[in-house]
Amino acid sequence: MKYLLLSFALAFGFMSLTSKPAAPAQSGIKASITRGKQVYLQQCLACHQVDASGVPNMNPPLIKTKQVLGDKTALIKIVLNGLKGVDIDGDSYNGVMAPHPDLTDREIADVLTYVRNSFGNKASAVTAAQVKVVRAAN
Ligand code: HEC
Repeated sequence: MKYLLLSFALAFGFMSLTSKPAAPAQSGIKASITRGKQVYLQQCLACHQVDASGVPNMNPPLIKTKQVLGDKTALIKIVLNGLKGVDIDGDSYNGVMAPHPDLTDREIADVLTYVRNSFGNKASAVTAAQVKVVRAAN
């Protein structure tokens, strides 16, 4: 049993070493993705799951959805204000997306940059400055 746990721990350690995101297109994006992963694990994982596949009928996936890859202002607003009763790429979900106004501009930028560049997604970074503008107008 001990050895089983140890080999799991080693396997996970190895996976986290080898599953680093690809080389950054813009400077700073890699660091943002690394920080964003920590925010994701603490704030988003419970509902959207570790692989962002969501929970059927409950919580939508964060994989190549219109919201994840689309307009950044709308995406930032989803994190700030939460979301409820909106069809996601034609499917409806019973869960309620909690608002996250207590996250800092940097944390929101990092987590969205992480999501937009993980799970098969590829999209430009979200910056703290962009979050600041959206929050001020929110
Ligand atoms: C309490 C559960 C919960 C938590 C925590 C949560 N979400 Fe959601 N999220 C949802 C649900 C449910 C929806 C769909 C709401 C609807 O149907 O209108 C959603 C929708 C979304 C969407 C738009 C739809 C899509 O799938 O692309 C994005 C983007 C999103 N969440 C990102 C996040 C991020 C980033 C975090 C962490 C900061 C997070 N969510 C935390 C439950 C959650």
